[in-house]
Amino acid sequence: LAATDYQAENAVVVQGTVATNHTGYTGTGFVDYTNVAGSYVEFGVGATSAGTAPLTFRYANGTAVDRPMDISVNGTVVASGVSFPATADWNTWTGRTLNAPLRAGTNTVRATATTANGGPNLDRLTVGAAADTTAPSR
Ligand code: GCU
Repeated sequence: LAATDYQAENAVVVQGTVATNHTGYTGTGFVDYTNVAGSYVEFGVGATSAGTAPLTFRYANGTAVDRPMDISVNGTVVASGVSFPATADWNTWTGRTLNAPLRAGTNTVRATATTANGGPNLDRLTVGAAADTTAPSR
């Protein structure tokens, strides 16, 4: 399965802003989640056939505190409280991968912050190949 990148700055952003004030992002920016529970980014993901696919969220978290998020596909939470732990700083990005069921056609993949800190900074979602899965540096 070929990997497809979906840039967060092109997704639906609810309670967040597109930002460029750190280095190392891909595309034209990243999403800075508002520091509130419930803030989310929602991607429209195409799949040619139904099946399980790896979803890799490329993120940065320059704080010492985890920024967990619920991941839902087509309105159903498929992974709750997924950990997005600290990276070395806000310029250091890493990937968090989980497997999720997709249907043929268009899917909505939503990443929703579950704590008052909001989500991490989110660069992109890659669907298909588990790329950039380096463990967070601390
Ligand atoms: C800092 C940082 C932002 C980040 C924010 C946060 O302001 O510059 O990029 O989103 O912290 O804590 O969420």
